[in-house]
Amino acid sequence: RNMSIDGKSKIYITRQIPSEALEKLKDECIIAQWKEAESTVPRNELLQNVKGIHGLYCLLTDKIDKEVIGAAGPNLKVISTMSVGFNHIDLQTCKEQNIRVGYTPDVLTETTADLTVTLLLTVCRRITEAVAAVKDGKWGTWSPLWMCGTSLKGSTVGIYGFGRIGIATARRLKPFGVKEIIYSTASGSKPEIDNELGSRYVEFSELLEKSDFLLVTCSLTADSTGIFNNNAFNQMKKNSILINTSRGEVVEQNDLIDALRSGKIRAAGLDVTTPEPLPTDSELLQLNNCIVLPHIGSATIETRTQMALLAAENLLSGLKGTEMPGELKL
Ligand code: DGY
Repeated sequence: RNMSIDGKSKIYITRQIPSEALEKLKDECIIAQWKEAESTVPRNELLQNVKGIHGLYCLLTDKIDKEVIGAAGPNLKVISTMSVGFNHIDLQTCKEQNIRVGYTPDVLTETTADLTVTLLLTVCRRITEAVAAVKDGKWGTWSPLWMCGTSLKGSTVGIYGFGRIGIATARRLKPFGVKEIIYSTASGSKPEIDNELGSRYVEFSELLEKSDFLLVTCSLTADSTGIFNNNAFNQMKKNSILINTSRGEVVEQNDLIDALRSGKIRAAGLDVTTPEPLPTDSELLQLNNCIVLPHIGSATIETRTQMALLAAENLLSGLKGTEMPGELKL
């Protein structure tokens, strides 16, 4: 795998990134970049620009499939994504071609857990409806049952995907006085966390049946794709609330729309959808028991800077062939 003539590696960066990270990369690499902040690199542009690179710095909005990896060619040593999610990268091809993959676990955990709790509270206390009522002149006198939501205290919180973010969310919810935290997750029960939080591993069907609030914080895999479908909504409590801060594809969105319309579940809060951005004519946006946020789970300046820096470190280590601080095991 050849370096360029002056010994520097060639990399491509698929977006404008925080300047701290760009500075780090500039010293050691020859950089080509899609410099836009808010538009994705067009596919053709990406395919052209990856030719001959040693490293690719990408985002979750870039589909890094066999074609892109093929277009890069045999110099490509490392793909580093500025995200904890990696469902946009063809890991099988990376493995076959000995390409290392970096991602950004840990640095965004707390921020994303904050947003998960924010979305939960916003939905269960009907905050967007309440704010709209004030603006629309619909605030009459104080009234015993007007704008009532539902309490966390005494509730059963279910978490699907009990990894870093799921656990950090559970830690935040415990002080709200929830009755029980149950979870279902691919890696099975977590006795240490159960000791700490009094949480309990359950089968998926029990999670559906018992949760008053069901929080989705899993990673998108073949197993989790579409798992929240009609079948699942039929098993959930009529008063339950679904919160998704993972990936839109975990939810069968048409089934969710039906469940929200027909009252199979009470409400939903989504930070992720299919597709993204969600078209403004989506039926989801017509429902007053659904709140949609534009994928802002990790969106604080501090966290995004840390993600960008970690992705830069991953890329540089991968280029040097040394240990990467956030490497995906392939
Ligand atoms: C991720 O990192 O995968 C999130 O979706 C955005 O921070």
